[in-house]
Amino acid sequence: MQIARTIPELRELLGGAHRAAFVPTMGNLHAGHLSLVEKARTLGDVSVASIFVNRLQFLPHEDFDTYPRTWDSDCEKLQSVGCDVLFAPDEKALYPQPQTCKVHPNPLIADTLEGEFRPGFFIGVCTVVMKLFACVQPRFAVFGKKDYQQLMVIRHMVEQFALPIEVVGAETERAEDGLALSSRNGYLDKQERIQASQLSATLRSVAQAVKDGERDFAAIEARATTALAARGWKPDYVALRRRSDLQRPASGDALVVLAAARLGNTRLIDNLEIGE
Ligand code: PAF
Repeated sequence: MQIARTIPELRELLGGAHRAAFVPTMGNLHAGHLSLVEKARTLGDVSVASIFVNRLQFLPHEDFDTYPRTWDSDCEKLQSVGCDVLFAPDEKALYPQPQTCKVHPNPLIADTLEGEFRPGFFIGVCTVVMKLFACVQPRFAVFGKKDYQQLMVIRHMVEQFALPIEVVGAETERAEDGLALSSRNGYLDKQERIQASQLSATLRSVAQAVKDGERDFAAIEARATTALAARGWKPDYVALRRRSDLQRPASGDALVVLAAARLGNTRLIDNLEIGE
């Protein structure tokens, strides 16, 4: 695996590659990220991952400073799945001047759910992803469905700017008890880690209620939120939404249920597509 620390180094390395498949990450890699890299390897003629903890997508009270930085094990893991190129700029290399030019995603998709509870988050995500796309110039970009709304926001950005990139969504990797793999799972203590599987269990029970024919979505959401709260979670939302644009569904729409909740000091998100 070759490592580029600056944009010119990356351009030099990728000089001849016209079908790069790209996986942007913030590091602290787990099996979920590695499955994205494995997917990328099947798509392009060169696989590129990036590691960059993007200050722009953290709110002032969030975990930017403490976000786990695990360089050596990240490199080993990427190497073990055959990643060709790692782009790992520091802040000076990616943002040599304050990044005042920003991408504002479609508020309809971006200001709801995560955007409501983390205002400005998707501006930070879109801005860095646009910049990373400009650096890597990939033909494919692979994002996990674990961050369902992020995937939708980025797909829409790519479409609106007519970027010549195919955005590929990859299924969520889960632990045996159902917990979606996430870098933030590392914040959970032993007891919380046991409890954490309740989030995906809640999503499954929402999906089951819909499959059983319940149509009062507000009542299903309220029941799920109450159940989580009763077990000591602080839910931000459990929301049944239309898959195509994350708006409130009408009858016949393909659905996804999304949730975000805090367990102790750790905020977890997860989602489940319902039906086909
Ligand atoms: O999903 C993430 O890890 C980040 O939001 C991303 C896409 C790498 C942008 O910083």
